[in-house]
Amino acid sequence: MLSRKLADSDRKYQIHSLHHPNDTEQMLICASGHGICIRDTDGKEYIDALSGLWNVNIGHGRAEMAEAAAEQMRTLAYFSGYAGSTTVPSIELAERLVRSVPEMGAVFFTSGGAEANESAFKTARYYWRVHGKSEKTKIISRIHGYHGVTLQAMSATGIAGYWKMFEPRVPGFIHVNTCYPYRFDSSGKGVSPGEAAARELEDAILSAGPETIAAFIAEPIHGAGGIIYPTDDYWPRIRDICTRYNVLLIADEIITGFGRTGRWFALEHWNMRPDILSFAKGVTSGYLPLGGIIVSLDIKETLDSVDPADKWMHGYTNSGHPACCAVALRNIEIIERENLVENSARMGDILFHALQDAFQNHPNAGDIRGGKGLLAAVEFVEDRVTKRNFPASANLGARLRTEMQKRGVVTRTRLAAGNHPAPGDEILFAPPLIITEQEVHRMVAVAKESVDAVLNQ
Ligand SMILES: Cc1ncc(COP(=O)(O)O)c(C=O)c1O
Repeated sequence: MLSRKLADSDRKYQIHSLHHPNDTEQMLICASGHGICIRDTDGKEYIDALSGLWNVNIGHGRAEMAEAAAEQMRTLAYFSGYAGSTTVPSIELAERLVRSVPEMGAVFFTSGGAEANESAFKTARYYWRVHGKSEKTKIISRIHGYHGVTLQAMSATGIAGYWKMFEPRVPGFIHVNTCYPYRFDSSGKGVSPGEAAARELEDAILSAGPETIAAFIAEPIHGAGGIIYPTDDYWPRIRDICTRYNVLLIADEIITGFGRTGRWFALEHWNMRPDILSFAKGVTSGYLPLGGIIVSLDIKETLDSVDPADKWMHGYTNSGHPACCAVALRNIEIIERENLVENSARMGDILFHALQDAFQNHPNAGDIRGGKGLLAAVEFVEDRVTKRNFPASANLGARLRTEMQKRGVVTRTRLAAGNHPAPGDEILFAPPLIITEQEVHRMVAVAKESVDAVLNQ
């Protein structure tokens, strides 16, 4: 009864992200959370297989996070981080973050991921302008990349569905193909998927003119556009190309940071140093909103070198919000104290193998991706030989999600989105980093039962 009243009120008064009223027919009204589980207003419990929205890395219901927020709010809930003032938690967190990535210089805080990427794009422009190269303003990003939905972030996002009703996009954003080994058509190319994708980046830089390109932005491992792992040669090649053509490399680690891939940051898997690293989500495990960018020493020195008249006129009321920073510091302390980065690596291996055991012989499981921490997916196709996707009318993703939810697991099932080559419907797995082996197996068993129920195996 209460649930119905709440659902009616929600439908009437709230606009949701990616809003359509059809999606509010079967609302999950989440009321509480504990560990890897959440509970709805009817008291039903679910495993949260996507950590909220890829962010609740330490799991739900941690009283000490609430205490950290309350303590900071009682002491000083807010003061401005604009030029000339600062706060203790923001200082401590900035130092902690800079120390977590080798050779980086400083941090700028935002409230979330899209704002972090906006800040990265503006900082790239600013950097080149200070160095006398004000034509370097264009940004290259990738098809299937997701970078948020503010106008610039949306223009960098490489998923057409996000643009369609908001065109025109901001000028100066160029998309290249990503490294997508499963969908790579090697015919006539004679190169690896990583090399082909890196060449595309190089060609795009050369065709636009390196003197016009400010930066390349990419997620180390794709998330919202479908969890897609690159081949191991991809990132070193990308770093070389960016260095060769004076293009800043922005690593969007908004999903992949803070232990998600079994390392603090995913680029560590390839020993890579970005020029700018965008972070959000896992920095507070979602307990309060926070994001930001970590910039290289070179960029920090550039910011510090200018005439006061040319200062970096960028900032937000909530930059370095003390309560959010205090919560982030406690979150990082918990990740370290409980060895959650190591647990993510270990449970990630178990998850990947469990998915292989469950699905490798399934006739519709086209590709199983995982192995770097708790970030894994199964991509489904109608025909495994041709890799043909199920038609949109089959509504496979939504049906899989419903079946999983019935069985007590909530996650996202990505629908094929229409870019070419389009990923098929996917079940995505990014559970909290505290997950146990038994819980991993429970989550995979539910996925298997749900796939069998929908595809009648
Ligand atoms: C890789 C990546 N970048 C940017 C964003 C945007 O973050 P926000 O929703 O906090 O603006 C997201 C959100 O899912 C993301 O996954």
